[in-house]
Amino acid sequence: MSATTGGLLVLIIFIQVSISTSQNTDRVALQALKHVWQGTPLSWDEGTDPCSGGWVGITCTNSRVTSIILSSTGLTGTLPGDIGQFTELQILDLSFNTGLRGSLTPAIGNLAKLTNLILVGCSFNGPIPRTIGNLERLRILSLNNNGFSDSIPATIGNLKNLYWLDLSANELTGSLPVSDGVQPGLDNLTHAKHFHLGDNQLSGVIPPTLFNANMSLIHLLFENNHLRGSIPSTLGLVKSLETIRLDRNSLRGDVPSNINNLVNVTEMYLSNNLLTGPIPNLTGMHLLNYLDLSNNSFSQSDIPSWFSTLESLTTLKMRFTNLAGELPAALFSIPQLQTVDLSNNRINGSLDISLDPSTQLELVDLRTNLISDFPGSRQYTMDYLILVGNPICTESDMMGQKFCNLPTITPAPYATPWNNCAPPPCGSDLVASPNCQCAYPLVGSFFFKAPAFSAVTNLTIYDSLHNLLMSFFRNATLPVDSLSLSNPSRNLEDYLVIKLQVFPSGQPSFNRTGIIGVAFSLSNQSFKPKTDFNTYTFNAEIYKYFSDSGPGGAKRKTSNTGIIVGSAVGGCVLVVLLVLAGVYAVRQKGRAEKAVQQSQSFALWDPTSQSGGVPQLKGARSFTFEELRKCTSNFSETSMIGTGGYGNVYKGSLPNGQLIAIKRARQGSTQGGLEFKTELELLSRVHHKNVVALIGFCFDQGEQMLVYEYIVNGTLKDSLSGRSGIRLDWTRRLKIALGAARGLQYLHDLADPPIIHRDIKTNNILLDQRLVAKVADFGLSKPLSDVNRTHVTTQVKGTMGYMDPEYYMTQQLTEKSDVYSFGVVMLELITARNPIEKGKYIVREVKQAMDKNKELYNLHDVLDPTIGLSSQLKGLEKFVDLSLMCVEERGNQRPSMSEVVKELESILTFVGLNPGSEPSSSTSASYEGVGKDYSHPYSNDSLFAYSGGFMPQKLHPK
Ligand SMILES: *[C@@H]1O[C@H](CO)[C@@H](O)[C@H](O)[C@H]1NC(C)=O
Ligand SMILES: *[C@@H]1O[C@H](CO)[C@@H](O)[C@H](O)[C@H]1NC(C)=O
Ligand SMILES: *[C@@H]1O[C@H](CO)[C@@H](O)[C@H](O)[C@H]1NC(C)=O
Ligand SMILES: *[C@@H]1O[C@H](CO)[C@@H](O)[C@H](O)[C@H]1NC(C)=O
Repeated sequence: MSATTGGLLVLIIFIQVSISTSQNTDRVALQALKHVWQGTPLSWDEGTDPCSGGWVGITCTNSRVTSIILSSTGLTGTLPGDIGQFTELQILDLSFNTGLRGSLTPAIGNLAKLTNLILVGCSFNGPIPRTIGNLERLRILSLNNNGFSDSIPATIGNLKNLYWLDLSANELTGSLPVSDGVQPGLDNLTHAKHFHLGDNQLSGVIPPTLFNANMSLIHLLFENNHLRGSIPSTLGLVKSLETIRLDRNSLRGDVPSNINNLVNVTEMYLSNNLLTGPIPNLTGMHLLNYLDLSNNSFSQSDIPSWFSTLESLTTLKMRFTNLAGELPAALFSIPQLQTVDLSNNRINGSLDISLDPSTQLELVDLRTNLISDFPGSRQYTMDYLILVGNPICTESDMMGQKFCNLPTITPAPYATPWNNCAPPPCGSDLVASPNCQCAYPLVGSFFFKAPAFSAVTNLTIYDSLHNLLMSFFRNATLPVDSLSLSNPSRNLEDYLVIKLQVFPSGQPSFNRTGIIGVAFSLSNQSFKPKTDFNTYTFNAEIYKYFSDSGPGGAKRKTSNTGIIVGSAVGGCVLVVLLVLAGVYAVRQKGRAEKAVQQSQSFALWDPTSQSGGVPQLKGARSFTFEELRKCTSNFSETSMIGTGGYGNVYKGSLPNGQLIAIKRARQGSTQGGLEFKTELELLSRVHHKNVVALIGFCFDQGEQMLVYEYIVNGTLKDSLSGRSGIRLDWTRRLKIALGAARGLQYLHDLADPPIIHRDIKTNNILLDQRLVAKVADFGLSKPLSDVNRTHVTTQVKGTMGYMDPEYYMTQQLTEKSDVYSFGVVMLELITARNPIEKGKYIVREVKQAMDKNKELYNLHDVLDPTIGLSSQLKGLEKFVDLSLMCVEERGNQRPSMSEVVKELESILTFVGLNPGSEPSSSTSASYEGVGKDYSHPYSNDSLFAYSGGFMPQKLHPK
């Protein structure tokens, strides 16, 4: 053997060994993943070779693993460093597995061939590792909807090939990284078309060097962060931009004039910032569909000339922008115009909508302006023209007109219609598809971040999305029978959220390959709605009904608390539930639930037990555990919106689309049946526009839950602290104060028995979609029994800072204790400070700063800067006087809530606002028939006794 052949032989052996070694490494690494993860597909237990053995979710080329796609399959566990072994891996998608947690291993940086890294909607946290910058081939990086924290690593700037960067809805902090000669930055990503960084806590200024003319960005989404400083003029260099969202930040200064060079922009949101200077000239943006500049501090300017020249406009939102002058009639003739919201400005003169207005017009909100004339008003029939708060509506012959009264604007409910068939009744968890087959759908939600439209009543747009998606699934030969879109609504970030259900074809459930195919096409953005819907993120729920059963498969049906003894008979399932307490409840579940609700709830109380028979409920319905489990996706962490000593609060949506908040008592903090019943009876009798309504309850399978209406805009605290992005100016604050006062007055004077709230604070005042205040959480509430009409002696409870000192000392609770807390809330309303902040007490601070001889009582320094210009704070002194009366040391020197309401009404009138009437008779009607001798056997702490708020800390500020 010559030396050459010998060398060749050695080389061949070496190559073979190294190939089989790396095959071997892939196999070992997969075994490691299988070991760490729960819920891997059953096929992973068959055969040892993942490549030849057909492991679901794994694709190989030449015996090397090239893709791992396991989206929405219910995996739980962490991502171990072994993942770094797959050096040929191109696609890694583990999206929609909320059970995947822990940090993202730095070993991810070893995946030199990776092109798609997709971890959407898991529970990963900790920093994004710097090694991510080693993934030079990466095109799609989607880490959105996780809990990633810390700053964005500058090394992301090395990802030269990146096309899609989505880090939104995490907890990222720090500033936006830009190159500095040493480190790279986001400015180096010149091939990227998408920067989606919204819904984080990014701070600092937007660096001017972030933008340059070499970029190819089309979507710039920075909304809902803490970005400061001004909008850099370099933004005007990125001419490819189509969608800009910089809203819900703290941006200041002038909008750079060269923004007008961005001629391809179709959606622009600059709302909810602190922008000043003139309203920008947008004449150049002739493709603009959707514009929102609301809630900024622009200097007063006349209606810009571009108002009627932007021919593609569907939506113009400029609330609180200091606009003045007369509206051009041509504005309303823009052919596709749907929404005009120019409320709370200084628009004056005469309103003219006569010139051939757009047929798509759905909402013209001009409330609180200075419009004094409306020729042609008599023929005017549009439902949603709002002129409330204009001089024209003070004329006596106008007051009765529709446009001088606030309409209730409810979006038309939408769900994909039945396909010429009658939906059959389906058993539990099964859902009727549009083709009227009972099946287990994959469920999730689209979040469209900047649609081109705003229409809420024209539903044809959703049909078009349905058709696009359906033909996409067909072309991709995915096993999809049909799909249903439903419940379109706008959330706090102004995303259009639409629920999606995808139904399997040929059988009632998907197998894992089917789910992975459907979920991946949405996590990977393979489906592109090239329409008005624009960019989206999708978040799916974990699928639990796999036909190739296994961990989390359909077997999970038998639970340890219930024994299924019946089976589906004509859609009704008879279930005998062995309730933990040992109480049997036999219930029948059918589709016509509403009609039998009351009798069902009665059945829950076993007359032989000590719970004292059927509760006397007014309008509250009884829910089964199953129903509530379903509408909160099994009480998933993502639907959790708060927590407290008693348990958790979940957000859910009922089959009819109504959003609800569910308070679920933790095991161990449930109370006896009698107490729960008493509590329910009390709550179900409370009906008032300014009090959060109880919708129902669940007393089933050992659970105790209360179901409330869901109040979209969160707590007053969230708005005052700037968290919610809703700016409250002085007049809004006045109305909120009046609303909350009326709610409280109702509890004191009209509820029977009267109720002392005991925990009034800004966390317990919620704001609905129209910013109507609603008093929530009767956590610590006490009814006054007739025997002892003036006070009750109790253990002191409440929240420091709001607590009545007299009650604290004497333990005697009276209505005046609530008045004290309300006085503190009023001070918080004008200062936006916590009652106790850095050891300073708000009441003392205000009193010390106050000088009645000076303008605004000399309170400039303690006022919340976002309340508005001091020249616009008419009535503030009266408001301060009233709040200080409420916080008098001695209860008998404080006003009653009805006196507070009267005084607030007179302040609103003084300011020129209509306080609205409050016919007290309309509220008492719902009390008839309730026993007057009702007394509350106030005993130990109830389900509701905890010190947090009704929707306390938002766990997921997303
Ligand atoms: C990033 O961009 C800056 C400025 O354009 C440039 O000086 C630097 O060389 C770039 N860095 C890399 C790693 O491409
Ligand atoms: C604007 O959009 C058009 C049509 O999509 C495209 O051809 C053009 O290149 C875009 N302009 C810029 C500056 O990117
Ligand atoms: C707005 O900008 C356009 C150029 O895009 C210019 O022709 C027009 O005069 C400007 N309008 C005002 C009021 O500055
Ligand atoms: C509804 O919207 C579609 C486009 O989505 C539009 O073509 C149609 O004219 C609209 N219909 C009405 C009545 O506005």
